[in-house]
Amino acid sequence: MRAYDETHHKATSVAKHSEDVACTCIRMCRLLKRFGIDISRKDVVNAALCHDLGMLDRDDVYENDRECHRLHPVESVNVAKSILSDYNDVVEDAISNHMWPIAGDFPKTREGRLIVVADKYCAMKDVRHIMRLYLALLLLRVGIILP
Ligand SMILES: [Fe+2]
Ligand SMILES: [Fe+2]
Repeated sequence: MRAYDETHHKATSVAKHSEDVACTCIRMCRLLKRFGIDISRKDVVNAALCHDLGMLDRDDVYENDRECHRLHPVESVNVAKSILSDYNDVVEDAISNHMWPIAGDFPKTREGRLIVVADKYCAMKDVRHIMRLYLALLLLRVGIILP
């Protein structure tokens, strides 16, 4: 529940972002299944919901954004281990390497690679909302929206 209070990408919360990544993964799994590519939805959803839990209280835990980017996957693995009854190596690979190529290694599993793509896609959606807000403020500032 604390993840709903932790802001993420300046436009959402860690929890909402994680739910977004999980839903995106499920849609991508459905699509890939049509091409005969089978991916464990259970592992992908588990990994998606836990991948950023290591970010909670990030201002107190990490020195700066760079350290947070590098270390939150490690802490997310620790959290996932403590709360998931069906934690396994696939989930660990997906969580530890979801920040690739910024941090971690290229994921060894399909589930891990799917999380990398879904996480970046969802992050871009979050930033798009910020860009809209900036554009609206800029238009206000230059007097295009209001004289
Ligand atoms: Fe992350
Ligand atoms: Fe994320």
